[in-house]
Order: sequence, then C-alpha cells, then structure tokens
Amino acid sequence: MPNPFSVSEAQFSDLLTQIHDIITKYYISNPPKEIRPSKDVLQTTIQAEPPTALQKEPLGTYATIQNLLNDLLPGIFVQSSPHFYGFVTGGALPPALLADFLVTMLDLDVMVHLPKDSIHTTIERHTIYLLCDLFQLPRSFAPGSTITTGATGSNIVGLACGREWLFSRDDPSYSIAKIGYLQAAIKSGVHNGIKIIVSKPHSSIAKAASILGLGSENLINLPASEAEPWNMDFERLESLLAKQQEDKVRYIVVGQLGEVNTGRFMSNVPHLRELCTKYGAWLHVDAAFGLPVRCVNVYDEGTEGLADWNRIYNWCSGVELADSITSDGHKLVNVPYDAGLFFSRHPDVLQRVFENPGAAYLATSGVDIVAPCNVNIENSRRFRALPIYAALKALGKSGYSALIRRLILHARMIARIIKDELYQYYELIFPNIDDLFMVVLFRAKDDTLNEVLAEQINATGKIWVSGTSWGGSKAVRIAAANWRVNLEEDGFGGVAIVRDVLKKVASFNSS
Ligand SMILES: Cc1ncc(COP(=O)(O)O)c(C=O)c1O
Repeated sequence: MPNPFSVSEAQFSDLLTQIHDIITKYYISNPPKEIRPSKDVLQTTIQAEPPTALQKEPLGTYATIQNLLNDLLPGIFVQSSPHFYGFVTGGALPPALLADFLVTMLDLDVMVHLPKDSIHTTIERHTIYLLCDLFQLPRSFAPGSTITTGATGSNIVGLACGREWLFSRDDPSYSIAKIGYLQAAIKSGVHNGIKIIVSKPHSSIAKAASILGLGSENLINLPASEAEPWNMDFERLESLLAKQQEDKVRYIVVGQLGEVNTGRFMSNVPHLRELCTKYGAWLHVDAAFGLPVRCVNVYDEGTEGLADWNRIYNWCSGVELADSITSDGHKLVNVPYDAGLFFSRHPDVLQRVFENPGAAYLATSGVDIVAPCNVNIENSRRFRALPIYAALKALGKSGYSALIRRLILHARMIARIIKDELYQYYELIFPNIDDLFMVVLFRAKDDTLNEVLAEQINATGKIWVSGTSWGGSKAVRIAAANWRVNLEEDGFGGVAIVRDVLKKVASFNSS
C-alpha cells in the first residue's frame, strides 16, 4: 500500500516533469486546437470516474496525480485559450502562473500583519499600490482596498460598506455592523430601508443585495434608454434622490463601467458623483473588466491602427470619484482565478464592517497595515497578491497597455469580419466599430440559426462563445480577454479561426 504522506524524490520529479511537459506544450509549442473535449472524450472521462464512495485505502500521490493527468484533464475544456471567448475569462500570464504555484507551495495565510516575522502582508500592500498606479487611481485608495475572491466578492464588500455608511454617517452609534440593519434603520427614521439604484447591472449586484439582506428586489433599474441601458437616467435618479427623506429611504447608486453583454461604459460618472454628494448617496462603481482601459494611454509607441486611445481611456473617467470600486484581476489583468479587486476611499468604513473582533490569537504586531482579516470577508485567505504582483512587475505599465490594446484590436478585427465579410449571415448589434471595447455582440440574420447559434459555434470545438440575449432576442457574445490573442490573421491566437467557424456555422440547416 502506498504511503499517503510521502512520495519518493524520483516519483515527485517524474510528476513535475510530466506537468512541466504539459505546461510547455500547452503554452508554447503545440497549444490545444480543440477548446472543448469531444462528446466521446466527455463520456469516457465521466465513465472512468463514477461517483463511488471514497475508498478506504490511500491511492498515494503518484497514482492520484497520474489519474488527474491521464483520466480527468482530457475531459476539461481549455478555458485559458485565446480562442475561449466566453465569459470574460482572461488567462494566466506566465509570471502569474508560476507565482501561483509558489503560493500553493507556501500555503501562506494572509490574515494577520506580522512585519517582524514575514513580509507577505507588506507585499500585498505594495501590490495594491502597484494596482493603483496601473489604473491611475490615487495611492490614497490603498488603505481602503483589498483583494477578494472575485468581482462578486468585491461587489458584496462595496455594498456592505455603502450599507454601513448610509446610517453611521449621521451618528456612529447607528452602525449596522454593530446594531444590525433593522435597529439602525429604525433609529435613523429610514423605515423603508436602503434601495440600490442601477442601470442594467451585472447580476452579481442583485446577488450581493440578497446576501447582505438588502433584498435583490430592492434594485431600482433606471436605464437612460432602451438603446443604451448601461447609461443611467439622471433626471429620474435626481428626482428619487431629492425625496429620499420624504420616502424614508437611503440609496446606494451603482455605476457600471463595462456592461457584461456589450462591454459598454456608462457616461458621466462625475455627474453621478455630484448627485450622490448633493443628496448623500453612496456611489459604488462596478468596473470588473472595464477598469483596465485606464492603462491604454500610458505610452506613445505606435497606435497599431487606432488613433484615439485617449478616448478609450476616458471611458473610465471619474471612476476615482466613486466611494467604492469593483474590478477583477482574473479577467483582463490575466492572473489566475481567485483575484477580485476592491478599492475604496473609506478605510474606516471598510474596517468597521469587516473587523474580526476580539480574537486574541490574531493580534497583529504592525501598526502601518491593518490586519487583512479586518478588511475582507474571509479571515484566513490565500496570498492572492503574489500572482498579481508578479504579473505587474513582469509586464509593467507598457506591457499592460500593449495587452489591453491588443484585446481591443483583436475584438475589432472580429467585428470587421462580421460586418464586412459575413454580412449576408450575421449582424453586429452595435455596428460602430470605433465604440467597441473587447466584446463583440452579434446575431444571425436567420432566426432559426440564431436560436442555436452559440450552441453551433461551440459544437465546432474550435472556439467557445457565450450565448446571451439582447433587445428581446438571442445573441452571441465574443469577449477577447486572453493574453495570447494576437493581431495576426492565421495561427494560434489569430482571428482567421473565428472567420472559419462563423462561415461553417452559417451553412447550418436545421432540417
Ligand atoms: C461587470 C461585472 N461585474 C461582476 C462580475 C462577476 O465577476 P466574478 O465572476 O469575478 O465574481 C462580472 C463577471 O463577468 C462582470 O462582468
């Protein structure tokens, strides 16, 4: 029977070699051409892993890892491919991938700041400074910022801070963190509670409202128009804010920079700020994949065919005026999953909500950095900062600028193929290519094909897209998010494969 707690040096290095070979092949020499496993492979891998009870005897490290590599991996789709255009997956840049291995090896826990013993919490703070630099946010945001599991986690943190601030700003004793929502609302005379004003938000805002007891049905959607629902109707917003005393409510206003279906940005965040300040509302901005436009104008080397990077940079203008901001490292920043980003101008509020009170064994010995467990949902959490730190150092500002520009240009090349070459079969839902970020939303002109378009595209196995709906009918969304997309026509990461797939699918016949 294998010893469950040890693996010989020879076996360990054999396993590392096998993993090394997979990574090298996967990344460099011969990346997988098929994004998703064939039906047969899916069936075989599932059948090879029946959900039997956990066996009594140990399988041991060597056999277990062989089982993963040989029997399970073939059944998993290749989400880190440049031709995986679904969700906004991003990918894992090599420095981030390697740093992530180290995090697992170290099994570090970011919970207490112990500067006499370790520098890891200091590295986390430095990483937050670097992120502020990357996104051109003032470094004064750092004390109120943290690294969450994802953008959903950040939205939860942002709404939790807003919820706290809306009552405790009048009187510190009205702290929801201390006395609960009900008591704080009664004491403040806000009998109808907190409502959240949005304009076609990501679903995670409703989820955050549900988790926080604010109620997912307490979202008030104020789209500016049917054509541009990501913009907010400022007139209706102001009339609601102006009578909040009378209505006995308080408001969190959520702006969105990067709407998930279209990639479009709400305009005029500075005006949103003015209204929130005038009427005392908390402004949270969800820029999960939009914030990286803040790095496209940092260097001047060549426009690569696009003149107006400053215009794109300005899609996020005013984001720094928000009370709290959500973004994501595991989207366009291209670090592995488990890396949401939260920024706020209110470290005091963040600490009041997330303080982990009265645990002597978590006493911190540093005064310069608050213990991470007092500014985030979890107490112990993964050292998420290290892969981000590695990616930021390895790419620098100009590397990120080049990456984000490439994603935008790649998406626009795809949009041009649809608009100029395949117009008999497909139409862009937003045909003005100069307004596109890295998301292309389109539909098939033939209704029968449109019904099954995403399914048919994904069935080719060559690319993977998300199905969605827009304006009452189904649509397909292509999101360029991976660091390996390129601006070539042919080959891995090029756009030719998208053209081929769309041409092939256009000949779909339901009969
Ligand atoms: C605008 C926006 N907010 C929030 C999220 C949720 O992100 P996560 O999956 O990292 O929680 C997404 C995901 O696509 C998003 O696009």
